[in-house]
Amino acid sequence: THKRPLPWRKNNSPYEIWLSEVILQQTRIDQGIAYWQRMLKHFPNVETLAKATEDEILKYWQGLGYYSRARHLHAAAQQIVKLGYFPNTAQELLKLPGVGSYTAAAIGSIAFNLPMAVVDGNVYRVLARYFGISTPINSTAGIKEFAKLAQSLLPVQTPGAYNQAIMDFGALQCTPKGTDCNCCPLKDTCIAFMTGTVCQLPVKLSKTNIKE
Ligand code: ADE
Repeated sequence: THKRPLPWRKNNSPYEIWLSEVILQQTRIDQGIAYWQRMLKHFPNVETLAKATEDEILKYWQGLGYYSRARHLHAAAQQIVKLGYFPNTAQELLKLPGVGSYTAAAIGSIAFNLPMAVVDGNVYRVLARYFGISTPINSTAGIKEFAKLAQSLLPVQTPGAYNQAIMDFGALQCTPKGTDCNCCPLKDTCIAFMTGTVCQLPVKLSKTNIKE
């Protein structure tokens, strides 16, 4: 009901969804929309992207940063054209340059209805709080635990809608600051809310353990 009106939600084009998910890997949605529109205007389908030169692609990617994403997009577009169809299984999606478990699950579930749970920063936060899980989200144990939990919650009939709904819920309602709990529809069953630990979750290990 309250989903964000994101332009790539208007149809189920795997190409458009792939492009949006690669852009959103390291870019905020508001900035990402403008780049997605710009890329799509110049490269309306996978064939035009495959045929473009790397310089051309980088020209339209300019300003987004993480330029290896643009290079991977180009290489992946060429692979897809060679293949003759858009990869539509988990295994094939994961073979594309620049497509890891998050992006494969996003494309797979949204474009192809595959039962693949996405776990991005929003999902980690919602699940850690709702279930009161303090395993660090960037530890090996945490990555496994959250992936398993997310997968167990996925409704197999509507994986794309569910994945996008939980990401939107994290982005709009269960925000990092956690200041909207009083009007949250899940507060009565949220472990973090009930135990007053919303602001401590999720737990993330700092990358460097600085020693004196
Ligand atoms: N963040 C990245 N991709 C998203 C999507 N498809 N829906 C909501 N949030 C997202």
